[in-house]
This record gives sequence, structure tokens and C-alpha cells, in this order.
Amino acid sequence: MKRIGMLTSGGDCQALNAAMRGVVKTLAHSGEAVEIYGFLDGYKGLIYGNFQMLTGKDFSGILTKGGTILGSSRTPFKTIQEPDENGLDKVDAMKQNYFKLRLDVLVVLGGNGSHKTANLLREEGLNIVTLPKTIDNDLWGTDMTFGFQSAVDIATECIDCIHTTAASHGRVFIVEVMGHKVGWLTLNAGMAGGADIILLPEIPYDIKKVVQKIEEREKNGSKFTIIAVAEGAISKETAKLSKKEQKKKAAESKYPSVSYEVADEIFKRTGREVRVTVPGHTQRGGSPCPYDRVFASRLGAEAGKLILKGEYGFMVGYRNREIVKVPLDEVAGKLKYLDPKSTIIEEAKLLGISFGD
Ligand code: F6P
Repeated sequence: MKRIGMLTSGGDCQALNAAMRGVVKTLAHSGEAVEIYGFLDGYKGLIYGNFQMLTGKDFSGILTKGGTILGSSRTPFKTIQEPDENGLDKVDAMKQNYFKLRLDVLVVLGGNGSHKTANLLREEGLNIVTLPKTIDNDLWGTDMTFGFQSAVDIATECIDCIHTTAASHGRVFIVEVMGHKVGWLTLNAGMAGGADIILLPEIPYDIKKVVQKIEEREKNGSKFTIIAVAEGAISKETAKLSKKEQKKKAAESKYPSVSYEVADEIFKRTGREVRVTVPGHTQRGGSPCPYDRVFASRLGAEAGKLILKGEYGFMVGYRNREIVKVPLDEVAGKLKYLDPKSTIIEEAKLLGISFGD
């Protein structure tokens, strides 16, 4: 008999349900008796002992369902070791609930912050297996996270729609893509949607270069320009500031996000009409794409295998087209940035895409 705790933590994404289903189906298929404790709303459920007993039936029919049947919440790592408003020691509470329920393992589906907490719990003596979720694809130790491809599809569809209206009106259009501090999502959606300019956090932009590209396109007969801007994109000037100064600048900015600043700069320099579209959380919503359904199911199956073998302290990841197990202490606390010198950037440049650098 295996007693398994499970939680989904942080911003949700597509295929969380598919991944959990993968774990549970694998265990059920092995013939091992299991008890599943589903903690509600991420680590909060583990802290406050909020859980539901789940059976195989609860995981049936959820392969294609977006969101998470367990609910999720952000429980920031930077305050996890501070007591809550009633003085409760959160880490101790999680340990107590884990041991009180006599769990064999806690399965955590999460992104960066969630992995830091998962690793802390491992250090505290809990058996942990994790699965890499996030539309940002910024988790260290895995080439791919589930949710990413589905979000690429949605952001691409948004750029596709903008393309037709941009062409009709001869305007400059900006599509702001999520991704937090990294540019994976914007780069992939931008390339898939045929963006002319792509602005990424890893390649600070020079607005003069952005304007130059728009003007070049016009000279060559293209009346419109599509710019995919990552929500974390920064200008060369901003990149020179310290992190603290950057935060202050963002807090004092009159623009709701970087895209509006880029739009305003283009307007001031060229007088051209610029429109901004922000698909926002739609990028995390809806049904997972077929790639994510398969990928998350595979990761879930491999997590199930680790649990059956009693191998704990790992994230199930994907490297060089193979599913691998990565020690949690290697994953926790590192962001996987895009390398500005990577071949995909070089290839995009060969295609004529400008990064404003
Ligand atoms: O990490 C996933 C993500 O969607 C990021 O791309 C984005 O910056 C952030 O979450 C938004 O967070 P929230 O849902 O808390 O507004």
C-alpha cells in the first residue's frame, strides 16, 4: 500500500490534470494498492491540512481538461519560513500533516518557486517527487515544461489574428506575451506567428533599432509590422540599472506594461499608429494541446514508476529528447534563461527577424 499526497502549486497551466492522471493511472495499472490525498490549493492545503481523498475515478476523463482539479495558489518561497498571521510555522505544519497522514511520498506539480519549497521539504525529510509545470518553460533541469506548448499555440493564434487586421490597416501591432522573466514563449510564438520584431528579456532592445526595422519594412513595401513583446522585455537603458533601480522604475512607470512603453516610443518617433494586444491569462487557459497531453502523461507515468521503486527526491524532466530524473537540489533556485547566442536566435535573425539589438 502506498499513501500518496499530491498538490498543484503556483500559476496553473494546461495539462496539470493530464500529468496527475498519468501518475495515478500508472500506479493503478501496477496493481499496487494506493491511497491518494489531494491537497487543495497548492501548499496551502498541506499547511492547513485541507485535503480530499481521491480515487482513480476522480482522475478519469480529465486528460483534456484545463486548470487543475485540486486548485492552485501562490505560496511564495520567500515567506514560507515565516509564520503565518496566526503565528503558525508553515514548514512545520506541512511536515506534521505529511507525517500524521503517514504519507509515503508527496507529488508536487509546480514551477520555480514550488520547486524551492519542494526541495526544502525534501531537506526536512519528506519523500518528494515533482513534475515540471509552467507556460514559461523557465524551469532549470528540463528542456521543456508542460503547459508551454499549449501556451505557444494560444499566443501564436493571437498573433495570427492580429496579422490579418494589421495587414488591412497598415498599422504597427504589438502582442504582449507572458513568460515572466524569460523569453521562451515569446520567441516561439513570435516565430510561429511570423512576427517581424521580437523583444525578449534576455536581449535588451534599443528602441532606435525597433524603429529602424519598421521603417525598413515600409521602404520595402510592407505597410504593417507585428512586434511580439515578452512581458519581461527590457530596454538597453533599463538593463544598465541595478535590479533595485529597475523595480523602482517599473513601479513608477505610467505604462501598464512594457508593450505600452514601446508603443508610445514608436508613436513619438514615427507618428505611426500602434495598437497593443495582451492575451494575458488566456495563454494559461483551456484544454491542453495534444503535445502537452502526451508529454504530461509521459512525465506522470515516469513519476509513477519512481514512486513504485521508492526513488524520491527527484523532478521528472526532459533532456535531449529523453525523460530523465533530476535531483531536486539541482533544480531548485535556478532559472532557465534563453541563451542569446543559441542557434534558434541566430536562425531567427537569418530569417530577418529583428530583436531590437
Ligand atoms: O508563471 C506563469 C505566469 O503566467 C507568468 O507567465 C506570468 O508572469 C505570471 O504567471 C502571472 O501570474 P498571476 O497569474 O499570478 O497573475
